[in-house]
Amino acid sequence: MTLVKRAVALLTAMTFMLELIHAAVYKVGDSAGWTTSGNIDYKQWSSTKTFQVGDVIIFEYNAQFHNVMRVTHAMYRTCNTSAPLATYTTGNDSITIQTRRHHFFFCGVPGHCQIGQKVDINVLRSDEMAQAPAASSAVPSPPVPSAKVPGPTSSNALSLKALKSPFGSAVLATFLINFA
Ligand SMILES: *[C@@H]1O[C@H](CO)[C@@H](O)[C@H](O)[C@H]1NC(C)=O
Ligand SMILES: *[C@@H]1O[C@H](CO)[C@@H](O)[C@H](O)[C@H]1NC(C)=O
Repeated sequence: MTLVKRAVALLTAMTFMLELIHAAVYKVGDSAGWTTSGNIDYKQWSSTKTFQVGDVIIFEYNAQFHNVMRVTHAMYRTCNTSAPLATYTTGNDSITIQTRRHHFFFCGVPGHCQIGQKVDINVLRSDEMAQAPAASSAVPSPPVPSAKVPGPTSSNALSLKALKSPFGSAVLATFLINFA
């Protein structure tokens, strides 16, 4: 292999590993889950998350009363359940986010979308991410390694742990050996 080919292969592998390291698991509605009781504000729930490709979204619900439909933006806006792109009915559905864009879901049981059982999982493109008001990067802060972690949510804690793990160090070491 030429040096260039090796470098390309390595960078591809690294990108993939970094995505794995950063993959987070989000349960929609947190402890409340996917429901019509309690007036859960799923818009508010998703707006506090920074979703990335590779993240796993879990819908947990009583399958006797609810389901999950992935739909287009137009269907989402109008709560049109007639032609979903996909339907999930296990009561514990894990969906891995594969692409950077909006992913629209609602409950297909009549009336549930209308009263708010709908969620927009928005995976920002990198240019949008740069513009997003990231509280952490806007404020100049001392060079503490953990300064970039914005909050005490479990997913952030997970990512940080992964980076500090032997696996994360091995990736970094490989990179340094090949390019230093
Ligand atoms: C719902 O969506 C289907 C498929 O896109 C469409 O044919 C139908 O007209 C829509 N119904 C309403 C009420 O908008
Ligand atoms: C749902 O599945 C996840 C793994 O995907 C598991 O950790 C969790 O315990 C399951 N919950 C229920 C209620 O079965």
